[in-house]
Amino acid sequence: MANSEPDNSARPPAGVRLCALAEIADPGGKSFRFRDGSRLFAGFVIRQGEAARGFVDSCPHAGWPLAPMDDRYLTRDGRHILCSGHGALFTLQGVAVTAPCLGEQIAPWPVEVRGDEVWTA
Ligand code: FES
Repeated sequence: MANSEPDNSARPPAGVRLCALAEIADPGGKSFRFRDGSRLFAGFVIRQGEAARGFVDSCPHAGWPLAPMDDRYLTRDGRHILCSGHGALFTLQGVAVTAPCLGEQIAPWPVEVRGDEVWTA
Protein backbone atom coordinates (compact mmCIF):
# COMPACT_ATOMS: atom_id res chain seq x y z
CA MET A 1 0.00 0.00 0.00
CA ALA A 2 1.27 3.49 -0.84
CA ASN A 3 1.22 4.61 2.78
CA SER A 4 3.87 2.08 3.80
CA GLU A 5 6.18 2.60 0.81
CA PRO A 6 9.58 3.79 2.03
CA ASP A 7 9.79 6.26 -0.88
CA ASN A 8 6.48 7.91 -0.01
CA SER A 9 7.33 11.60 -0.44
CA ALA A 10 4.82 12.55 2.24
CA ARG A 11 6.71 10.60 4.92
CA PRO A 12 8.45 13.19 7.11
CA PRO A 13 12.24 13.02 7.40
CA ALA A 14 14.05 12.44 10.66
CA GLY A 15 14.10 15.40 13.01
CA VAL A 16 10.47 16.52 12.75
CA ARG A 17 8.77 17.32 16.05
CA LEU A 18 5.51 15.40 16.37
CA CYS A 19 4.09 16.40 19.74
CA ALA A 20 4.75 16.62 23.45
CA LEU A 21 4.86 13.19 25.08
CA ALA A 22 2.15 14.41 27.45
CA GLU A 23 -0.24 14.79 24.50
CA ILE A 24 -0.39 11.00 24.22
CA ALA A 25 -2.35 9.03 26.82
CA ASP A 26 -0.31 6.60 28.91
CA PRO A 27 -0.81 3.99 27.66
CA GLY A 28 -2.32 5.29 24.46
CA GLY A 29 -1.81 6.26 20.87
CA LYS A 30 -1.82 9.31 18.65
CA SER A 31 -2.43 9.65 14.91
CA PHE A 32 -0.27 11.70 12.57
CA ARG A 33 -0.86 12.49 8.92
CA PHE A 34 1.40 14.24 6.45
CA ARG A 35 0.60 15.28 2.89
CA ASP A 36 2.75 16.04 -0.11
CA GLY A 37 0.45 16.90 -2.99
CA SER A 38 -1.66 13.82 -3.56
CA ARG A 39 0.57 11.61 -1.41
CA LEU A 40 -0.43 10.83 2.16
CA PHE A 41 1.61 9.34 4.96
CA ALA A 42 -0.32 8.17 8.01
CA GLY A 43 1.49 7.03 11.12
CA PHE A 44 0.76 6.61 14.79
CA VAL A 45 2.72 6.61 18.00
CA ILE A 46 2.08 4.36 20.98
CA ARG A 47 3.19 5.59 24.38
CA GLN A 48 4.09 3.43 27.36
CA GLY A 49 5.35 5.54 30.21
CA GLU A 50 8.33 7.56 29.01
CA ALA A 51 8.76 5.41 25.88
CA ALA A 52 7.19 5.95 22.47
CA ARG A 53 7.11 3.64 19.47
CA GLY A 54 5.97 4.64 15.98
CA PHE A 55 4.19 2.64 13.29
CA VAL A 56 2.90 3.15 9.79
CA ASP A 57 -0.89 3.22 10.04
CA SER A 58 -1.44 0.30 7.70
CA CYS A 59 -2.50 -3.17 8.83
CA PRO A 60 -0.29 -5.96 7.44
CA HIS A 61 -3.46 -7.94 6.67
CA ALA A 62 -5.24 -5.77 4.12
CA GLY A 63 -3.41 -2.46 4.36
CA TRP A 64 -6.29 -0.59 5.96
CA PRO A 65 -5.73 2.04 8.64
CA LEU A 66 -5.90 0.35 12.04
CA ALA A 67 -8.07 2.76 14.00
CA PRO A 68 -11.67 3.75 13.25
CA MET A 69 -11.09 7.14 14.91
CA ASP A 70 -8.00 9.24 15.52
CA ASP A 71 -5.86 8.04 18.42
CA ARG A 72 -7.98 4.91 19.12
CA TYR A 73 -5.36 2.21 18.61
CA LEU A 74 -5.35 0.29 21.85
CA THR A 75 -7.71 -2.22 23.38
CA ARG A 76 -9.56 -1.05 26.50
CA ASP A 77 -7.02 -2.70 28.76
CA GLY A 78 -4.18 -0.95 26.92
CA ARG A 79 -2.34 -4.22 26.31
CA HIS A 80 -2.76 -4.57 22.57
CA ILE A 81 -3.07 -2.61 19.36
CA LEU A 82 -6.39 -3.48 17.71
CA CYS A 83 -7.10 -3.37 13.99
CA SER A 84 -10.70 -2.37 13.44
CA GLY A 85 -10.65 -3.95 9.97
CA HIS A 86 -10.93 -7.60 10.94
CA GLY A 87 -10.06 -7.55 14.61
CA ALA A 88 -6.40 -8.56 14.62
CA LEU A 89 -4.61 -7.94 17.90
CA PHE A 90 -0.97 -6.85 18.00
CA THR A 91 1.51 -6.53 20.81
CA LEU A 92 2.61 -2.99 21.62
CA GLN A 93 5.70 -3.86 19.59
CA GLY A 94 3.45 -4.32 16.54
CA VAL A 95 3.46 -8.12 16.14
CA ALA A 96 0.10 -9.78 15.44
CA VAL A 97 -0.90 -12.36 18.04
CA THR A 98 -4.23 -13.32 16.44
CA ALA A 99 -5.65 -14.07 13.01
CA PRO A 100 -5.99 -13.00 10.28
CA CYS A 101 -2.35 -11.92 10.15
CA LEU A 102 -0.84 -13.93 13.01
CA GLY A 103 2.90 -13.30 13.28
CA GLU A 104 2.97 -10.40 10.83
CA GLN A 105 4.23 -7.03 11.92
CA ILE A 106 3.00 -3.47 11.53
CA ALA A 107 5.67 -1.54 9.64
CA PRO A 108 7.75 0.54 12.04
CA TRP A 109 7.96 4.32 11.78
CA PRO A 110 11.06 5.39 13.69
CA VAL A 111 10.40 7.98 16.37
CA GLU A 112 12.30 9.01 19.48
CA VAL A 113 11.61 10.80 22.73
CA ARG A 114 13.80 13.84 23.31
CA GLY A 115 13.21 15.31 26.71
CA ASP A 116 9.44 15.55 26.91
CA GLU A 117 8.78 15.62 23.15
CA VAL A 118 8.35 13.04 20.40
CA TRP A 119 10.31 13.44 17.17
CA THR A 120 10.75 11.45 13.99
CA ALA A 121 14.03 9.55 13.97
S1 FES B 1 -7.23 -5.07 7.85
FE1 FES B 1 -6.43 -5.39 9.85
S2 FES B 1 -7.13 -7.36 10.42
FE2 FES B 1 -7.82 -7.12 8.36
